[in-house]
Amino acid sequence: MTSWDTFERYRTKGLDARRAGQWDSARIYLLEAARAMVQLSKEAQGEELRNARQDTAKRLLELARDCEDAKTTHRKSKIANRKPNDAQATQEGESTSSADQWIVREKPTLRFDDVAGLDDVKEDIRLRMIYPFAHPELAEKFDIRAGGGVLLYGPPGTGKTMLAKATAGEIDATFFRISPADVLSKWVGEAEQNIKKLFDAAAAEPRSIIFIDEIESLVPARRDEGSSVMQRVVPQILQGMEGFDKKGTVPILFMGATNVPWQLDSAVLRPGRFDEKVYIPLPDLLARQRMLAIYLKHRPLDPAIDLTQLAQRLEGFSGADIRYLCDRAATIPFLKSVATGEEGQITREVIEDVLADSKPSVSSEMLTRFEQWSQQAASA
Ligand SMILES: Nc1ncnc2c1ncn2[C@@H]1O[C@H](COP(=O)(O)OP(=O)(O)O)[C@@H](O)[C@H]1O
Ligand SMILES: [Mg+2]
Repeated sequence: MTSWDTFERYRTKGLDARRAGQWDSARIYLLEAARAMVQLSKEAQGEELRNARQDTAKRLLELARDCEDAKTTHRKSKIANRKPNDAQATQEGESTSSADQWIVREKPTLRFDDVAGLDDVKEDIRLRMIYPFAHPELAEKFDIRAGGGVLLYGPPGTGKTMLAKATAGEIDATFFRISPADVLSKWVGEAEQNIKKLFDAAAAEPRSIIFIDEIESLVPARRDEGSSVMQRVVPQILQGMEGFDKKGTVPILFMGATNVPWQLDSAVLRPGRFDEKVYIPLPDLLARQRMLAIYLKHRPLDPAIDLTQLAQRLEGFSGADIRYLCDRAATIPFLKSVATGEEGQITREVIEDVLADSKPSVSSEMLTRFEQWSQQAASA
């Protein structure tokens, strides 16, 4: 028997055992599969193939380790994760637990008001997800369909993740957050089933948002692809995105976010996948002013400080930069108050001190790159 046959056989056995919750045998089979894969990587011609095989072996080892953990935590988490009316979970029994390991199910409380600026984006989301729910008859008459795919792209720290959560909070949707890192380490051989489970779980809720942050690491331009996991995950996700939209009974909003849109597979960007590609830019003056209000007003603040003027000086700063600046401005008088026992406040000097050693985290080259990409995306 070749190493390849050994690998295939043990992997299949390992995954089957894992699905059945037979953690001890799963672990042994997966370790054997990993060992065979290490052997195959030694036989591989060329560095690329060798690396890909080593990666696969590494993931199998992780999976085997997971079985070890699962043995101790599985019972507890399975019960905690299962809702009484979750027919699917009861039917499929143990196998849903593997999905629970990587699907993060949340009910965010964040609202649009917590996100400064981005009014156009918020309005667009209202059109897709909020108005159709509030006025179903009108939506039907005007043939407005709820749901679909929205890709948020823009420089880091501009509120993409926040906005996705706030959307869920705004419409009281269940928020399925997928971490590409988990997908890549835990989906060995199970990508298809997992994606199906994800879409099924989302369809079982009255409203759902499926959110993939850093989506470029999951659907990178194909030339960057190394492993067989990716080769199967990519088409499956694309297919899933189209499929759920056609089923159409339960509106699901599919949101992706990326700081590096040019690394995305062009197939993801085709019409029908992400219908809407939304540029999330650096905050404008009004948005910066609003952020300062959000992050300073509830703190002891010298009333003489002019937030409009401060906002003007923060051109080029991202939301995350401004948040950080405000936190630091609060830390200084806080520590002083602790030391002296006398309650101080955020004064102009404090703000000046903090400003003096802050600079925007997003470079102008990066901004140019985004603007070029967004023009190109708009005309594509
Ligand atoms: N538009 C915004 N309004 C309010 N806070 C923001 C905004 N953008 C960014 N922030 C702050 O920066 C942090 C990081 O934002 P995040 O949503 O993770 O950015 P991104 O996903 O675009 O990289 C947020 O937790 C928040 O504190
Ligand atoms: Mg983010």
